[in-house]
Amino acid sequence: MARILITRRLASRAPERLTAAGHEVVVHDGPAASAGKLRALVDGVEGVLTTVADRVDPALLDAAPGLRVVSNYAVGCDNVDLAACAARGVAVGITPDVLTEATADLAFALLLAAARHVPAADRAVRDGRWTSWEPAGWLGRDVHGATLVIVGAGRIGEAVARRAEGFSMDVVRVGRRDDLLAALAAADFVSLHAPLLPATRHLIGAAALAAIKPGAILVNTARGGLVDQVALTQALADGRLAAAGLDVTDPEPLPADDPLLQAPNLVVLPHIGSATQGARERMAQLAVDNLLAGLAGEPLPNPAPALAPAS
Ligand code: GLV
Repeated sequence: MARILITRRLASRAPERLTAAGHEVVVHDGPAASAGKLRALVDGVEGVLTTVADRVDPALLDAAPGLRVVSNYAVGCDNVDLAACAARGVAVGITPDVLTEATADLAFALLLAAARHVPAADRAVRDGRWTSWEPAGWLGRDVHGATLVIVGAGRIGEAVARRAEGFSMDVVRVGRRDDLLAALAAADFVSLHAPLLPATRHLIGAAALAAIKPGAILVNTARGGLVDQVALTQALADGRLAAAGLDVTDPEPLPADDPLLQAPNLVVLPHIGSATQGARERMAQLAVDNLLAGLAGEPLPNPAPALAPAS
């Protein structure tokens, strides 16, 4: 029997499978714990179910010397220091595939919302500013026939591509070895789906935003750190970008006084890409599968991507 910490209460009964297997489960209720509180909470645990809001770093691992499994309730794992976990023999699991379609739906929702001013038009109606039908107002961008550049064409990028093809968009996929700046020059829309790694931090920075086709629209449902938000704020302010739709920011939560929120034509959401009842239930089941396997000394069914060998 192992002691397991679940760092947030999930909307799922999947954790009951852990108690049924004889494990002791402690659930931290309330908002995400601070780093200090998390270190206190992991005292004595062998398994932990973490969210994207928890940092699994050497300090946390030092506070949990008996830890054997980190089950990250996410497909991304940039919040987990994989090298530090590997060095201590701690297995790391993730929840791939089950949130692909939900996240792609949200990317497309942001694309459409940003292209057609959906949130701002809604606010105008509620604020009593709908005084007449406007022949020259609220003019957005055509989505059909536009070129969508998908940066990082993995599972979620491909799911966005399928939706885009249904909207008669021309889809250009940009992988690690492709010329990002050349692709951006032809983009009407850009949707980010790359993992956050040292090499991808601020991938969309001043140089990329200078190369992007004027009037393009940026969508980010991957990680906030992919975008240099100072450069993005400037590109929205000077009209280089027509709009941006973000589900992720850096930091998260984004403080209410962050200058980005003053930028025009910005749609921003609180990291809800996987937030459907179905996706979150499937994520919970996968996260529990990873814990059960790891605590039984078996390979995790959904391990985090292997670290690149040190060069
Ligand atoms: C959410 O951002 C995830 O990585 O699952």
